[in-house]
Amino acid sequence: MLVFDNIKKLQQHLFPISADQTVGFVPTMGALHEGHLSLIKKAKKKNNIVVVSIFVNPTQFDKLEDLEKYPRTLNADIKLLKTVDCDILFIPSASEIYSDNIQSESFNFDGLEYQMEGKFRDGHFDGVGTIVKRLFEIVQPNNAYFGEKDFQQLQIIKKLVEKHAIDIKIKGCKIHREDDGLAMSSRNTRLTKEYRKAAPYIYQTLKKAKKKFGTKNAVEVIQWVEKKFKKHPILELEYFEIADEKTLLPIIKKEHNRNYRAFIAVFAGKIRLIDNIRL
Ligand code: PAJ
Repeated sequence: MLVFDNIKKLQQHLFPISADQTVGFVPTMGALHEGHLSLIKKAKKKNNIVVVSIFVNPTQFDKLEDLEKYPRTLNADIKLLKTVDCDILFIPSASEIYSDNIQSESFNFDGLEYQMEGKFRDGHFDGVGTIVKRLFEIVQPNNAYFGEKDFQQLQIIKKLVEKHAIDIKIKGCKIHREDDGLAMSSRNTRLTKEYRKAAPYIYQTLKKAKKKFGTKNAVEVIQWVEKKFKKHPILELEYFEIADEKTLLPIIKKEHNRNYRAFIAVFAGKIRLIDNIRL
């Protein structure tokens, strides 16, 4: 595996590749786990060269504490990347990416950015849009891989390439879970033992909500989930929503030609966990 921290050197290596070869790209913030690796494995199957980036992007954190405490485990990440035969790792510094101006562009994602995570994390999707657009300009891949774990982010990236006429195919990848159902996340390592034990309750509740959605209306399902969390001794619900997969707008009335998904954000102490399920 080749490792670059410099844009020019990365491009000097990448751009001579011939037109019949494809580059797959997996952007990450590191602290890699099996969820990330599942994206890389998928990219490896479909592309000649796979580039993974690790960059803890300051502009997408609305809380400085979250940015500072974000786990940084580069040596372990490199070991994991070698196990999946990653071709190129790109680890730029903030100054390499942003020069002297660590600031977000302002995006219009046709309203996708105002739903769910957008209501609770100020400026988050402007930060994500800024860094992903920049990384796309640098790497210029054919295909880019994003997890459904961050379903709203995935839809926003699809909107980004559509609106900016960027010629990159965005591939969504299934959520990778621990054996007990907890969606894998770099933040899970920051859970205390007690919260780690409690956290699978999130997915268990999502699965039950999915079942209920078969026979009950959305308001009833939402109220049921909110009640369940009110009774939970330590987990705190931030939001539970049922939304249209394309527009991410909250469901008003079930329509047969639409796909719906339930989205949840929960505080396990100070750690904020998100998950979702297709209904
Ligand atoms: P990060 O949280 O490191 O995630 C990198 C990619 O891995 C994202 O596409 C995310 O959805 C995916 N991922 C994380 N956990 C997953 C899981 N359990 N199953 C499947 N996929 C999973 O998301 C980001 O970084 C950043 O916002 C980024 C896109 C890199 C921009 O900075």
